[in-house]
Amino acid sequence: MKLCMIGTGYVGLVSGTCFADIGNQVICVDKDLDKISKLKSGISPIYEPGLDELIKKNYSAKRLFFTSNIKQAINSSDIIFICVGTPTKKGSLKVDLSYVYKCCKEILKFTKKKKILVTKSTVPVGTGDEIEKIIKKKKKLFTVISNPEFLREGEAIRDFRYPDRIVIGSNEKKTFNTMKKLYSPLTNKGAKFFTTSRRGAELIKYASNAFLATKITFINELANLCEKSGVNIEDISLGMGSDNRIGGRFLRAGPAYGGSCFPKDTKGLVFAADKHKVNLSVVKSVIKSNFNRINLLTNRIHKILGSSLKNKKISFLGVTFKPNTDDMRDSTSLKMIPYLSKKGALINYYDPSGEKKEFRKIKNCFFKNNIKNNCYNADLVILLTEWDEFKTIDFKKVIKNKKFKVYDLRNLYNANEMKRNKIQYFSVGRPNIK
Ligand code: NAD
Ligand code: UGA
Repeated sequence: MKLCMIGTGYVGLVSGTCFADIGNQVICVDKDLDKISKLKSGISPIYEPGLDELIKKNYSAKRLFFTSNIKQAINSSDIIFICVGTPTKKGSLKVDLSYVYKCCKEILKFTKKKKILVTKSTVPVGTGDEIEKIIKKKKKLFTVISNPEFLREGEAIRDFRYPDRIVIGSNEKKTFNTMKKLYSPLTNKGAKFFTTSRRGAELIKYASNAFLATKITFINELANLCEKSGVNIEDISLGMGSDNRIGGRFLRAGPAYGGSCFPKDTKGLVFAADKHKVNLSVVKSVIKSNFNRINLLTNRIHKILGSSLKNKKISFLGVTFKPNTDDMRDSTSLKMIPYLSKKGALINYYDPSGEKKEFRKIKNCFFKNNIKNNCYNADLVILLTEWDEFKTIDFKKVIKNKKFKVYDLRNLYNANEMKRNKIQYFSVGRPNIK
């Protein structure tokens, strides 16, 4: 099939490349000229394991194309996927749909023959109806449907290829067949093909993200109780997660959840519900609890290092919101590092995805290019992101300062082993924390 992805970010680029890999002709469009020129020269603008190879393979097989010319891309496609960002409007809970609506206006301008117009971006319930109003001049040329994306960054290719379900929301039944055909290479391998109304699909996406954020927040709060009551949170996650009705995934206690989606989508869902005068009190308290968690973690850092952080050397291992991505959106580090810097701490950080522009202007905050340079002088090492290369650090070899401490926010290390090695070790929801 001939597809066009508008917006070549984490979702548009990964899903466009994977659609090409299962035999479709895909044109990825972006208004960011730098992104397109990088892609044309074989460089992925994002860090996602396996993506570079897949782009190269499909680009040279002439199944995958990159352009900033939306007119050309629309004319040569039958299905158009909108994959632009839907961030939270500054200072509110509202979803900023301006990128979606703007690209719909451009699509309208250039469309001459029948198309399926798909929202893959996460959009509030009823957005498809608003899109229909924008394109009403050429209404007969479009079927507007919703196909939310459920991939996770860092595991995006696997998630695209082996999804639990594909959700298609349409008010016109005949488009289900076209979408079923498009996704047949995945449904043939066992992915569930779930059809519903357009509004239903839009809401399933928000419900899923809000539920997962709730699970994480629940386990993070229980971790606080475990620390006070001498219980190991990992036993709780395993014990409760073994019940099929609960399920063991997304029960890893850690820092606050972050990323480009859980924070914004929980807020977007609350905003949509408020508009309909429905009180989603559970989701509201999840947002609040996750926000407050950062204070809780910084209070613990004070407990570990003392009330004054002046000239304390703190080294961060990982600053992205999760491993295997370069994405910094709503990462805990964005709040924690500026706070510690204001308190006078001297901060180093190392992240395998490279230096971050977000910290360039933070006082006494420096990027180091490997674990050793990052940690050698540290009073406290904070493990924030569980990248594979952090799993096997011999801290005693790496750190010169004999009195160093480790605060493991992902429970990556074995507490008993740390004790045996006489390392002052703190983690999340485990009895060893003071
Ligand atoms: P992103 O910011 O990485 O990418 C969006 C891209 O759209 C940018 O490159 C931008 O330049 C481009 N763009 C904006 N307006 C455009 C226009 N008019 N024409 C051409 N290009 C345009 O965003 P993302 O992380 O890929 O997220 C996109 C959507 O998918 C969001 O709604 C998000 O909630 C949803 N989503 C994201 C993920 C994820 O893991 N990041 C997963 C599932 C769903
Ligand atoms: C999440 C969802 O998992 C995807 O299904 C969805 O498509 C995507 O949002 C989206 O809509 O953008 P993503 O944000 O990429 O994917 O990553 P997750 O693996 O879900 O992690 C999100 C945050 O929760 C991270 O900060 C992670 O560290 C944290 N987390 C996750 C925990 O603290 N504990 C867990 O058990 C799981």
